[in-house]
Amino acid sequence: LFAGPVDFVKGVVAMSGLPDADRLEVCFAGRSNVGKSSLINALTGRKGIARASNTPGRTQEINYFSLGEERYLVDLPGYGYANAPVSVVEKWQRLLKQYLQGRVTLRRAFVLIDSRHGVKSVDEEIMKLLDSAAVTFQVVMTKADKVKAAEREKIMAQVRQALAKHPAAYPEIVLTSSEKGDGIATLRAIIATLS
Ligand code: GTP
Ligand code: MG
Repeated sequence: LFAGPVDFVKGVVAMSGLPDADRLEVCFAGRSNVGKSSLINALTGRKGIARASNTPGRTQEINYFSLGEERYLVDLPGYGYANAPVSVVEKWQRLLKQYLQGRVTLRRAFVLIDSRHGVKSVDEEIMKLLDSAAVTFQVVMTKADKVKAAEREKIMAQVRQALAKHPAAYPEIVLTSSEKGDGIATLRAIIATLS
């Protein structure tokens, strides 16, 4: 599946701009700066295909990437960026809701959680939205290289506790580092086997 060409398809700002629903897709959601774009770069093996930056809130569109002819990877705008204007946040929430509820080919949402920080209240809000849209979501811990094992276990326990409250949560958590490559093959296999 991942042998095919990887391409940036388009950035979408409204439901009318979504590409044809002709293949399965997964989306990546998470707080600003959690490492969504870096993860997509690592998954596709193409550094820089999804723009990764130090400026939080940089990715403002729903960005579509194709994996061969069989999957779309969807990079969602980061949430929880403190300096974003209210009008922008509201527009984004509306689009996100429409996307999660209306995209028939969406098979799974990956909710990215920073390995150092655990689940925050904005993450809880997204998880509730996913519950109500009945979109199965799976937590991907990012930046695993930045935290020691003991600290990580504490955070993971907090994440598991948070997930227990959400009917749409998939129980298995994937630990990743886009920097070191940990968990990337696992995540690729998960995406490849979704049907
Ligand atoms: P927005 O698009 O603004 O929502 O951010 P994002 O979630 O796409 O985050 P992005 O991939 O741009 O990464 C944010 C910062 O974290 C960058 O400086 C990355 O280099 C860094 N980063 C991402 N993944 C990792 C990782 O696995 N390890 C380390 N050490 N740094 C990472
Ligand atoms: Mg990004």
